[in-house]
Amino acid sequence: MNNFNFYSPTYFAFGKGRENEAGKLVKRFGGSKVLIHYGGGSIIKSGLLDRVKVSLHNEGVAYIELGGVVPNPRSGLVYEGIELCRKEQVDFVLAVGGGSAIDSAKAIAIGAPYEGDFWDFFKGKRVDKALPVGTILTLSAAGSEGSANSVITHEDGMLKRGSGSELMRPVFSILNPELTCSLPAFQTACGATDMMAHVFERYFTNTKNVEITDRLCEAVLKTVIAETPKALANPNDYEARANIMWAGMVAHNDICGVGREQDWSTHQMEHELSALYDVAHGAGLAVMFPAWMKYVMRQDVLRFAQFAVRVWGCEMDFHHPEKTALEGIHRLEHFYTSIGMPIRFSQLGAKAEDIPTLINTLRIGTGTIGFFVKLTADDVKNIYELAV
Ligand code: NZQ
Ligand code: ZN
Repeated sequence: MNNFNFYSPTYFAFGKGRENEAGKLVKRFGGSKVLIHYGGGSIIKSGLLDRVKVSLHNEGVAYIELGGVVPNPRSGLVYEGIELCRKEQVDFVLAVGGGSAIDSAKAIAIGAPYEGDFWDFFKGKRVDKALPVGTILTLSAAGSEGSANSVITHEDGMLKRGSGSELMRPVFSILNPELTCSLPAFQTACGATDMMAHVFERYFTNTKNVEITDRLCEAVLKTVIAETPKALANPNDYEARANIMWAGMVAHNDICGVGREQDWSTHQMEHELSALYDVAHGAGLAVMFPAWMKYVMRQDVLRFAQFAVRVWGCEMDFHHPEKTALEGIHRLEHFYTSIGMPIRFSQLGAKAEDIPTLINTLRIGTGTIGFFVKLTADDVKNIYELAV
């Protein structure tokens, strides 16, 4: 196991009705004037926005609002939010929605106190200062409610890039599983796929003897695999929604990743798909992960066989562990299909002839991406082709 630091100070308020504590929590974490930041209107329709405003009002917390975050959030609204925060002297950003609203809020929070262009932080500049961010999650998926990351697409060139800093970890996150019951089946399935992907990026590692995190990863995967079909069959199944919601947080606040080298090449390859075709991140991952797995599994066949046996219950073929490893990948594809996810380029609306464009915007050049297997531009091309 490698040395590591783990600092995850987000306060989680989990359970029914907890959004009514938003005002108290903002005050507790020092906010006096809040920017409420949200997406395309699902929280208006559900009445959540009104409840949040009442909660803030009851605690004497002032607020302004900025909606309109789109899935795969864009830089334009971030710039607008930064200007608004400065003009109105906002001291706290409250995201209400899914990963996109939260990521946009985080970008505003690091951009507002910074004199330069917030995009510098997405090109690698270190974050020194940020407004505190709180979240009220309505979609279990990206894990941004507990993560130190934000992913934004810059409209100039449609570059989808991530930035990471401990200063972006939310100071609090309100997780009420009931708020996810209104999700369309497709978004529920995309969320499950994204959580599983966050585990895969950490599970397939060259670091040996990290049994504790292996087992945590497997627990998250098995939970998502068992609970997602229940939530799809009955969207109001509170217990299924609750298990999925917490699994999404555990999958990505890095408790499943410490002590080991992580990969993240599949996320990079997927981000190019969602930037080019504006597809849902989870759907893109369902297409890319099986292709990546098939391409790299020979790096450590026994690890893939372990995944097949422990997560999918496959029988170990000791004479041909490669067969067991492949069986695990096929079970994964079958699961994705069973929950309505695409597993090939065509199902996503992606085209083989765009592969050079996807590789070009990834900007690998003569370098590599990922760690489990360091992928060159040629490897990436082969993986995209496998996904076709
Ligand atoms: O915009 P509204 O009207 O709210 O509708 C949203 C949106 O259309 C809808 N929705 C959300 N909650 C709902 C709901 N509809 C009905 N009922 C509800 N309760 O769902 C749609 C998708 O929302 P979005 O926030 O885009 O989805 P998700 O949470 O999957 O976030 C995806 C974004 O997160 C990034 C992805 O790249 C993508 O841009 N990621 C962020 C990460 C991070 N910050 O750590 C890590 C991830 O790997 C990921 O890259
Ligand atoms: Zn993801």
